[in-house]
Amino acid sequence: MATLRISVLFTFLLFIGSLIAQNPLPIPSLLTGPEYDLILQKGTKEFFSGIPTTTMGVNGDILGPTLVLNAGETVKLNVQNNLGEPSTIHWHGLHVHPANDGGPHTVIENGTTWSPQFEVLDKAGTYWYHPHLHMKTAEHVTKGIAGFIIVRDDEESKLLLPRTYGLDDIPLVIQSRAFDTNKQFLTLSALDNTILVNCTIDPYVEVPAQVVRLRLLNGSTERVYRFGFEGDHSFHLIGTDGGLLPSPVTMTRLNLSPGERIEILVDLMGMENSSIFLKSFASELSNGTYGADNPSIMPMGSIQGYASNPLNGQDFEVLRLDIIQQTNFPVLQIPTTLVNDQPFVASQANMTRSLTFQAAQMNMNTMVNGPFVINGSSFNLQTINYQIPINNIEIWELTNMTAIAHPFHIHDVQFYILDINGNPPPAHLSGRKDVVLVPPGNGTVRFIAQFSDFSDPVIPYMYHCHMLSHEDAGMMGQFLVTGGTTSIQPGDEHTFQFFPNPTNDYLTVVLNSDIQGHILLTDHLGRSVKGLSVKHIQGNTLLYDLRHLPTGAYWIQMASDNGSVTTAKGFQIVRD
Ligand code: C2O
Ligand code: CU
Ligand code: CU
Repeated sequence: MATLRISVLFTFLLFIGSLIAQNPLPIPSLLTGPEYDLILQKGTKEFFSGIPTTTMGVNGDILGPTLVLNAGETVKLNVQNNLGEPSTIHWHGLHVHPANDGGPHTVIENGTTWSPQFEVLDKAGTYWYHPHLHMKTAEHVTKGIAGFIIVRDDEESKLLLPRTYGLDDIPLVIQSRAFDTNKQFLTLSALDNTILVNCTIDPYVEVPAQVVRLRLLNGSTERVYRFGFEGDHSFHLIGTDGGLLPSPVTMTRLNLSPGERIEILVDLMGMENSSIFLKSFASELSNGTYGADNPSIMPMGSIQGYASNPLNGQDFEVLRLDIIQQTNFPVLQIPTTLVNDQPFVASQANMTRSLTFQAAQMNMNTMVNGPFVINGSSFNLQTINYQIPINNIEIWELTNMTAIAHPFHIHDVQFYILDINGNPPPAHLSGRKDVVLVPPGNGTVRFIAQFSDFSDPVIPYMYHCHMLSHEDAGMMGQFLVTGGTTSIQPGDEHTFQFFPNPTNDYLTVVLNSDIQGHILLTDHLGRSVKGLSVKHIQGNTLLYDLRHLPTGAYWIQMASDNGSVTTAKGFQIVRD
């Protein structure tokens, strides 16, 4: 009788087990440098048997390969766009020149290849890449374009950490998706009731009974997770967005908002042949966070469709870890110290900038749904919001006057949080960061960062909310870093003038004196532009027809025949 009961129970458990966590977790393939070929393409994936969902991916149907970059190495990334429409690829978290950053100004037209080349200046850590075309970011990310970047460096390599990719070092991109009745992705929908890990529903992964490293990326368009393990099994945070911490922080819960990454160690020793779930304890998220019971701090405010989404305010399983035998050279200990990292302190700052988030119009509904503005203005591709002198150390003071928390992200830099709502950051938020969740209801965050190495007179860097619906709806701004030496030296301001800038059709160049020479129009990487390459200077006024050229940043370079004058000035082509 007892045996029967046990076997019935066992069968029942197997049945439950087959309903949930039934798909092996795919591990994205690895690409190593120094040259990387990435092809943006359309595809399909069968999330529901027999029904193909239309997707976008990199070198495949969905997601993209993991790029391994070595600090100090010069890399070249060839991004070929075969999507049938324009896009961009941004290296989120990497410190690169704005021309290499892949923001909304660096459009990759369909059928063309963008090949940025740069030295890896970042610290070992977990970064990522994703499209960033203005007003298309949410759609292209939702359809599936995203990938990991793992930076390695000497400091990290010396530590006794798990780093066998796919075995004891596992990348996990967590996303929530909404499907329509035909099982196609819905963009910008609060019906995102399906959790995907590495674009897989109900996944499980086999991991060895030792110390395992998980790299978590919240690649969701809106949702905030509160990660933890079943049974409050603890984990050890070793890294945040831009690198490793000075020492591990032992925790049982950790919130992760869109765009943020963490690296954690989990000790699974002695747990062979058992399973443990990674979960999101969303019932513990405070209201005013997308993912909590109420996304608004105001009792009445909500988002259409949000209340019926079973993930909101409920604890749910994210990934089942099936624990198997140890590998050959297992890591069996959590290190006590990691890396040296000196945060900036407030007294080092040259200045403070204040950014206030508000709803464009303030009422119960817009305070949680937006559209949101920063310092009263919505994103405009043609407006430079700040000019930052190169090497400035700045404090950015963020105030959120809306009813929902916003994950604020800035390009170019890693920052250190000085305080959140006036309190110094807890240990797990004290390291290098490029996204920070700003609490709702007049919540404040201050961070400090230095804008070093790269400047450009034309191409800006972005800052924005990483809830992609908010970003696409205008919760974004841009800044130029100015004053440094750039790869193309700006020359004598008085040699020539040109107008209009930005332009969408023609550009008139007027020479200020009689010069014998050549004018060259190039794209932002200094490559000559087809059909326009060289024009010999004859009179004083030149008219260029730019109507066949894509939106983007360009240079006009001038060289006199006798070599006495060379100068370069930037301009932009902007079209709606
Ligand atoms: Cu992850 Cu400006 O983006
Ligand atoms: Cu970014
Ligand atoms: Cu936002």
